[in-house]
Amino acid sequence: MVANTLEVKKSGLQIPVMWVVIATVLVAFIVSEVSSSYICSRPWRHVLDQDQSGNAVYGSKAALRRAAMEGAPVRVHIDDFRGTRLILNEDLLAFILQEDICIESLKHLQRDDWHTFNNDSRWQFIQICTTGNMQMFQWQFGNNVTSADVRINVRASWYVQYNGCKDGEGNMLLTTFANGTKAGGDVQTLARAVSDGAGLTAYDAFTGKRWPMTGVVWTPELVVGYNQWGFSDHMVGNHRELDSWPNWLFSVYTTDGVHQDVHWKLRSNTIIAHHNTTTTLKWFADPCWQLAYSHDSNGNAFDGSLDYLKAAVAKGHRVRLVMGNFSSEADDLLVDTDGNITAVLTSDVRHRRSDPTQFPTNINWLFRIISTTGRNKYHLFDVLNPTTHLAYHDNRGVSWFIDTRPWKHVFSVDENGATTYGSKAELINAARNGADVRFSWNFANFWSTIQKADTVIVNGTELAADAIRSLLVTKDIQDGFILTHNPAWTFSLTSTTGDMDVSRWSIGTHESRGHFRHRANVHWFVNV
Ligand SMILES: *[C@@H]1O[C@H](CO)[C@@H](O)[C@H](O)[C@H]1NC(C)=O
Ligand SMILES: *[C@@H]1O[C@H](CO)[C@@H](O)[C@H](O)[C@H]1NC(C)=O
Ligand SMILES: *[C@@H]1O[C@H](CO)[C@@H](O)[C@H](O)[C@H]1NC(C)=O
Ligand SMILES: *[C@@H]1O[C@H](CO)[C@@H](O)[C@H](O)[C@H]1NC(C)=O
Ligand SMILES: *[C@@H]1O[C@H](CO)[C@@H](O)[C@H](O)[C@H]1NC(C)=O
Ligand SMILES: *[C@@H]1O[C@H](CO)[C@@H](O)[C@H](O)[C@H]1NC(C)=O
Ligand SMILES: *[C@@H]1O[C@H](CO)[C@@H](O)[C@H](O)[C@H]1NC(C)=O
Repeated sequence: MVANTLEVKKSGLQIPVMWVVIATVLVAFIVSEVSSSYICSRPWRHVLDQDQSGNAVYGSKAALRRAAMEGAPVRVHIDDFRGTRLILNEDLLAFILQEDICIESLKHLQRDDWHTFNNDSRWQFIQICTTGNMQMFQWQFGNNVTSADVRINVRASWYVQYNGCKDGEGNMLLTTFANGTKAGGDVQTLARAVSDGAGLTAYDAFTGKRWPMTGVVWTPELVVGYNQWGFSDHMVGNHRELDSWPNWLFSVYTTDGVHQDVHWKLRSNTIIAHHNTTTTLKWFADPCWQLAYSHDSNGNAFDGSLDYLKAAVAKGHRVRLVMGNFSSEADDLLVDTDGNITAVLTSDVRHRRSDPTQFPTNINWLFRIISTTGRNKYHLFDVLNPTTHLAYHDNRGVSWFIDTRPWKHVFSVDENGATTYGSKAELINAARNGADVRFSWNFANFWSTIQKADTVIVNGTELAADAIRSLLVTKDIQDGFILTHNPAWTFSLTSTTGDMDVSRWSIGTHESRGHFRHRANVHWFVNV
C-alpha cells in the first residue's frame, strides 16, 4: 500500500536499477514494520460543522476532540465576511477543552480581496473555537504592534486526518509524566522513529494542548520537541481567547516531562518569561514517511536516489530532513535546472548547543537553506533586533524523507490562465472536502518552487493559496541558493487564474520591498 502511493515505475526510466531495488527493499521494510497497525492512505474526514452559537449541526465535537487528543492533524474551514471560504491549511496548534476545541493559527496576511494582499500587509493571528468564537489580532511587520482585536461568532467546518488504523486511534509511542517516569514505550523507540523520518505531535494532558513539533532534537536518552507558532491566551467561560496584547511563544517539551515557554512580548519588544513547568505528555509519531535519498557532506549519494526524491517532489509529496540528530519539515523546495534540490526551513529557533532543552538569553530565528549538494547555510536573526543577522555555512550529509500519503496532481494552469492539465473543479472540490493542498510555480529558464499552502481561499470557481513561510532567495553560481544581501520575506498568494500576488518585506523592519503580480505556470497537488 505504501509502495503504491509513489509510482516508482513511472520515474523508473531515469533511476538506475540498483536504486529501484534498494528503494523497493526499503519500502518493503517500512511496509512490514508499519502496515500491521498503520494505513497512510486514509482521507481527511469531515467530523463536525458547528453553528455560530457552537451547536453541532453535523458530526460531533467528541469525535473531533478524540482525534486531536490522539495527535491527528486538525483543519478548519470558515466562510469569511467577503463570502469566500477560508481554509486554515497548516498543522494547527489546538487546545482540547472539556467539551470544545480551539485552534491557533498564525500564518496569515491581511488581504484586500481573495487573491491580493494589502499594500501595508500585516500578520494576522487567528483563534477559532467550536463554541463559535473567533478572534483575530493584527501585527505590523517590524516590531510595531497595531492591535485590531476583532471578535466575531462564526460557523465552522472541522476536518481531521486519522493517523492510525481505527478512527481516533493515533500511533502513541510513549507517555511521559511530570516526575520524569515513562509508560507505554521508551525514549529509544521514539528517537528511532524520528531518525527514520517520522513527524511528532504531543498531547499535553495537563493543559489540553495538541502540539505539533516543528523541530525535534534527540539523543538515545532524551527527545526534545520545539514549536514557535503559539500565542499567549487564556480561558474565558467555555473557550479560549488571545490575550489583549498576546505574546509570541517559543515552546520546548522534553521526554523528561519538562515544558518551557519563552514569551516574546510584541508590544514592548522584550523577552519576558521563561516558564518552567512539568507535565504529562503523550507522544505520537506519524510514520507515514520513507527515506528517498541520503547523501554525504559532499553531496555523494549514500542511500536511495536523487531521481526518486525528485519524482516524489514533482508529485507534490512533503519532505522532511534529518541532519545529525535534528529533524524538521521543509517549508519551500527549490528544484534547480541543474538537477539539485534545495530545502528552505524557517520553523526553528536556536537552542543552546550544550543543552537542547534550553533557549539562550537572546532568542534567534534559525533559517536553514539545505541542498542535496551537501552545502548548507544557516541564518540567525535575533527576534528583538532582526535587522542585523549572523550567517554561517557548512557541508553535511542529509537524509531526505518523503511522506507516503497519496498525493495527486490535479490541475495545472499556464501564464495565460489556460488549463494545461486536469481540472480546476477537482482541485476546488478536494480543498472544500478537507484535502491538504500544495503547489509549485515554474518560470521559464528558472528554478521551480514547491510550497505548502498555509491558507487556502476559495472564491466560487477560483482558488488562491498563500505561502507565508518563505524567504527571498537568489542563485549564486558558486554557492547555489542564498539569501539576498538585504534579507526579505517573499509572501505569495497564488491563484488558479495563473497569477501570483507577491509582497516582499525586509526581515525585521517595516520596510516594503515591493508588491507586484507575476504570472507563472502553476501545478496544484492534493492529499485527499
Ligand atoms: C471572486 O472573484 C471574482 C473575479 O476576480 C470577483 O469578481 C468576485 O467579486 C470574487 N468574489 C468574492 C466573493 O470575492
Ligand atoms: C498598492 O500598490 C500598488 C503598486 O505600488 C498600486 O498600484 C496600488 O494602487 C496600491 N493599492 C492600493 C489599494 O493602495
Ligand atoms: C509604530 O510606528 C508608528 C509609525 O511609524 C509610530 O507612530 C508608533 O509609535 C510605532 N509604535 C510602536 C509601538 O513602536
Ligand atoms: C510518577 O507519576 C506517575 C503519574 O502520576 C505515577 O504513576 C508514578 O508512580 C510516579 N513515579 C514516581 C517514581 O514517583
Ligand atoms: C528550567 O528547568 C531546567 C531543567 O530542569 C533548568 O536547567 C533551568 O535552569 C530552568 N530554567 C529556568 C529559567 O528556571
Ligand atoms: C545529538 O545531540 C546532542 C545534544 O545536543 C549532541 O551533544 C550530539 O553531538 C548530537 N549528536 C549528533 C550526531 O549530532
Ligand atoms: C548540482 O550542483 C553541483 C555543484 O553546484 C553540480 O556539480 C552538479 O552538476 C549539480 N547537479 C547534480 C545533479 O548534482
